[in-house]
Amino acid sequence: MFDINFIREEFPITKKCFNVYGSETPRNLIYLDHGASTHPCQRVLNKYIDFIKNYYANVHRGRHFLSMISTELFDRVYETIFNFIKADKNENAIILTSNTTTALDMVACFMQGTDGITLVSLMEHHSNDLPHRHRGKVLHFGVNPDGTLGMADLEQKLKSNKVKLVAVTGASNVTGFLVDIHKIAKLAHENGARILVDAAQLLAHKQIDVKPNSDPGHIDFFAAAGHKAYAPFGSAFLFGPREILDRAVPYVPGGGTVMFVSEDDYVYANSPERHQGGTPNIAGAIALAESLSFLSTIGMDNVREHEIELTEYALKRLKEIPDINVLGSIPSRNRLGVITFNIGDLNNGLVANILNNEGAIATRNGRFCAHPYLSFLMGREDSAEIIRRLKNGEKFDIGGAVRISFGLYNTIEEVDYVIDMLKMIANRKWKADYEKSDVYFNCKDVVLSAS
Ligand SMILES: Cc1ncc(COP(=O)(O)O)c(C=O)c1O
Repeated sequence: MFDINFIREEFPITKKCFNVYGSETPRNLIYLDHGASTHPCQRVLNKYIDFIKNYYANVHRGRHFLSMISTELFDRVYETIFNFIKADKNENAIILTSNTTTALDMVACFMQGTDGITLVSLMEHHSNDLPHRHRGKVLHFGVNPDGTLGMADLEQKLKSNKVKLVAVTGASNVTGFLVDIHKIAKLAHENGARILVDAAQLLAHKQIDVKPNSDPGHIDFFAAAGHKAYAPFGSAFLFGPREILDRAVPYVPGGGTVMFVSEDDYVYANSPERHQGGTPNIAGAIALAESLSFLSTIGMDNVREHEIELTEYALKRLKEIPDINVLGSIPSRNRLGVITFNIGDLNNGLVANILNNEGAIATRNGRFCAHPYLSFLMGREDSAEIIRRLKNGEKFDIGGAVRISFGLYNTIEEVDYVIDMLKMIANRKWKADYEKSDVYFNCKDVVLSAS
């Protein structure tokens, strides 16, 4: 059962208030930036602090109490991730990384020696596009005018090229579009390619099942991060097949990656150690596992239903805003709770500033590290001109949109308040003069408590 009151109690951040412009009383923060990073819940924070306070020690090889306990807790993390994504641990490995970008780059690196090109969707976050461009030939496959993936284009490019890898997001960080990853996996496999799913947005929002390696629709590589799944920053993972991971050149060779080193030779360990050179983020990994357990306790189907409810309601109510342009037209069942929009010709930065300064509403604005997709959705053909001007050293606003992204503890009442604020903005009724810099919050006054 999904108990929103229990969930809000679990997240200390839901109590956070900020002074807002034009009001005597501070306002409760409305956090709608889960697409960027999510807050750890109390259960995760407790585990994190308990580990650091009571068991802090490096893992593996140490024969003292702390090291043995730390090792045991760390090694359990892999098991939790395997279970969470329903993966088979005999044929696959999980490599712990610092963020999704590193996990995605690992795949680009491991596949570098394989013959063929990488097909990358035009919906991708730069982190699942640029690493492939850097490490080999990339062809992009398109998106449809409604913001969905161009499956016909993908199929055609798979058939007419020698493709080694299809790199695709599990869900867009701009429109929330939920990609049918198993259908793409099947197509990729039928054409002799592997699939890499960027699950940065997906992990904490929908039940994952990477399926057994023998299933034609199974996912070969799967990358995601804890900081978008209610764990602290700095802990992420890559899931992939041992037949590739255990043969690949270590991503970061060094301490912990070898079985033996002589003066002139060495024998590398298998995965995950093979690719995890140096001390891993042990506390972060333990916290990541705890956050996945927390999500499992709530139930991923409940998480998904709550998000659909919020998204459906928000999409319906956003229609009341004069001049609103929601990017893409994807129904709530086919998307995550990620909604990106513009209001008339208002600058996205101004809208995000007003929401924050006058409503304590945290959104994100800009182009969301998905420039090709955003340019396409905004119907702008000026990419070449932007590139030319930037290469010329010009400094200018490249435009963009405003994004709200829901998390576990958001409520219908919060959506209502956001709609009121957006109406006020659309009617040009904001209170502060945004030409003046003194309406902006002075972050220099913030001091962290050490108690
Ligand atoms: C779809 C997607 N992929 C990749 C990333 C990069 O994730 P990380 O910051 O964990 O490297 C993000 C971050 O916003 C994202 O939304």
